[in-house]
Amino acid sequence: MSRKAPRIIAFGDNVVDCYRDQKRMFPGGNCVNHAVFARRFGAEAAYAGAVCDDAAGRAIRDACLAEGVDVSLLRFMPGQTAYCVIANENGERVFVGANLGVSIIAPSQGDLDRMSRADAVHTGRSSHIDAWLPRFASLTRVSYDFATIRDEAHIARLAPHCFLAGFSGGGLSREEALALGEAALRNGAQWAITTRGEDGAMLVGRGGIYEVPAAPVVPVDTLGAGDTFIARTLVGLLRDEAPDVLLSEAATAAAETCLSPGAFGHGAAMDIDLTTMLTLDEIYRNTRPVAGPADMKEIVLTR
Ligand SMILES: Nc1ncnc2c1ncn2[C@@H]1O[C@H](COP(=O)(O)OP(=O)(O)O)[C@@H](O)[C@H]1O
Ligand SMILES: [Mg+2]
Repeated sequence: MSRKAPRIIAFGDNVVDCYRDQKRMFPGGNCVNHAVFARRFGAEAAYAGAVCDDAAGRAIRDACLAEGVDVSLLRFMPGQTAYCVIANENGERVFVGANLGVSIIAPSQGDLDRMSRADAVHTGRSSHIDAWLPRFASLTRVSYDFATIRDEAHIARLAPHCFLAGFSGGGLSREEALALGEAALRNGAQWAITTRGEDGAMLVGRGGIYEVPAAPVVPVDTLGAGDTFIARTLVGLLRDEAPDVLLSEAATAAAETCLSPGAFGHGAAMDIDLTTMLTLDEIYRNTRPVAGPADMKEIVLTR
């Protein structure tokens, strides 16, 4: 497909990224970042997710609105908006801990209807909705951010549903990045993008392997660099751009993201209760994934 403005819906996680030492918070989270960057790269982008009517939730909504992201599928729920605590070590972002708040939700019929009219849906590991990927894939192309998942059995479960599989491969060698991309393709993904921080990125598709070096910058804050790269890649693939062209654009855009604090700006004074913070390990161990469509039917039947 080569429409000028691909329609992308990002479904799932959001947070405010909190920098405690600076007492600043920035709208973010994988799916919010993806929607904002996709919009900046020319897509018609929507973000579907859940926040609360608190300072953080309003900051996320207002930033999406200011960026031209459609928030008609955003819901406000009672509780606390999700947050992530970020430390900055010489420009490199480090995840300290988080609380997912109300951000982990199942899609509504309205979300699914919108997906069926979109060119792609983006989601990822942080959204904890893997059980829905087959349904999403039956409606549109799926872009899935595996983040640091590298286990082939895990990849094999999700890759069959992926148009684009994204991997955060900072620290990986070229061979390791290639192995990840090939694992995704072998298991059914059409494209796989592995970013390797300052070592650049590699896109693997049926037509071959494409690589780009990182643009040389001295990073201020690398938060959101991978999301920038994946969003630019998805927009480019949907527009049928040549891989070398979209990779070069993606590397330039990702480098720019490294030059400002937060993922995409819109910082505000920190206004959130961080006492409920959990370590990322605790979150990945204890978060109950959203039940899939089949499980939900069972719940209804046994009531
Ligand atoms: N220190 C850096 N210098 C220049 N570019 C960078 C740097 N860190 C990241 N990038 C760019 O951002 C992309 C994504 O970064 P990466 O660290 O792989 O993602 P993640 O956000 O998942 O950690 C890289 O492929 C590169 O283009
Ligand atoms: Mg990185």
